[in-house]
Amino acid sequence: MLQANDHIFINLDGKLETDLKSAMKRGDWSETEQLLKRTPDDLIDTIKKSGLRGRGGAGFPTGVKWSFMPKNPTPEKPSYLVVNADESEPGTCKDRDIIRYEPHKIIEGALVTACAIKAHLGYIYIRGEYYREAEILERAIAEAYSAGLLGANACGTGYSFDFHVHRGAGAYICGEETALLNSLEGKKGMPRLKPPAFPAVYGLYGGPTVVNNVETIAVIPTILRRGADWFLSIGKPNNSGTKVFCISGHVNKPCNVEEAMSIPLRELIEKHGGGVRGGWDNLLAVIPGGSSVPLLPRSICDDVLMDFDSLKAVQSGLGTAGVIVMDQSTDIIAAIAKLSRFYMHESCGQCTPCREGTGWLYRIINRMVEGNARKSEIDRLLGLTKQIEGHTICALGDAAAWPIQGLIRHFRHVIEERIGSA
Ligand SMILES: Cc1cc2nc3c(=O)[nH]c(=O)nc-3n(C[C@H](O)[C@H](O)[C@H](O)COP(=O)(O)O)c2cc1C
Ligand code: SF4
Repeated sequence: MLQANDHIFINLDGKLETDLKSAMKRGDWSETEQLLKRTPDDLIDTIKKSGLRGRGGAGFPTGVKWSFMPKNPTPEKPSYLVVNADESEPGTCKDRDIIRYEPHKIIEGALVTACAIKAHLGYIYIRGEYYREAEILERAIAEAYSAGLLGANACGTGYSFDFHVHRGAGAYICGEETALLNSLEGKKGMPRLKPPAFPAVYGLYGGPTVVNNVETIAVIPTILRRGADWFLSIGKPNNSGTKVFCISGHVNKPCNVEEAMSIPLRELIEKHGGGVRGGWDNLLAVIPGGSSVPLLPRSICDDVLMDFDSLKAVQSGLGTAGVIVMDQSTDIIAAIAKLSRFYMHESCGQCTPCREGTGWLYRIINRMVEGNARKSEIDRLLGLTKQIEGHTICALGDAAAWPIQGLIRHFRHVIEERIGSA
């Protein structure tokens, strides 16, 4: 369990004020000018050593991502920072609360990150539905400008950094980093082909760009202040630091909570989520990382740890750390069918396996909810997920395939029984 003095997010529950003065009392913007005086290489090295992995879903090492940026960006091709606040993954609402209650952590993190990657302009792209949260960000950014923390002479260091809020129109696919960049440029929010369009090489307006998740950016100043070794001391090797988990579904106390990475799933649910409705024995399954990752049956939930590598080892993933708890009353086929419908709806339609396949998946699994299918179709459905997985421009195709693969892996008998009794 995370020690009280190891929390980065002191106001995640929103009990304290969020204005600049109150944020400063909690330690934000403390000697930021000293951080900005460190060399970009030093900043990048510290983040590399801390082992921080991106909190947006894929878990890519943050310092390594930053090191792909050019050492000497030119005025013709300046570098950019983009903070991803699109947060549309079902079961996930951590960035929302960081924005609501700790907005200055994001703004300070953006400034320091910009300095590390030599960017002078940054945007935070926020999903359209987060209207109030966009207002909170605007207000906090205005406060930071008034206090001289942002702008031409940020924190009095001579470093110039401008930071703007950009509201999306509410599309899940615009959380995918290259779709986000297209949308930010005023184009259709559709993913770009990678390669060649890796953001560090060809990003916003064709310039080198780092795209990082809200939580990733918000933890940067604390890591730099407390040091890489402190962050490394929490969690397990290759899975270091603290993590904000979103606990929802059939628990007594749904919440967002910051915990140590690698906390056992059971401890997380029982200590912070108030336990499974009806007790642990009433648990059916958990989706541990937002709707895109395969579910885990109770037998695995008993002792699995909540980190990137432990969840990968049980054929699931940490994803966004959106923990969706389902008790025995859940119609597990209907639950996964609902997610299938979501992915069908959110497919941008650019590539055939995803555009056609997500609808096909949904139509088959939707029939299975009623038992209106043949048993041979279970393998056909599984085969279809394999034809989508890894064959699309972006990972939405994988996200549509994995929940169904998890269902068939662990609950094939439930589908067979449903078909048998129809
Ligand atoms: C369909 C799809 C939706 C995504 N949505 C989000 C999102 O809402 N927020 C986010 O930070 N990353 C999202 N991502 C991941 C981003 O593409 C990108 O990897 C991430 O913003 C990088 O930040 P990080 O390195 O700090 O994790 C999404 C990816 C895909 C394929
Ligand atoms: S995988 Fe789906 S969402 Fe991604 S680019 Fe292809 S069609 Fe669009």
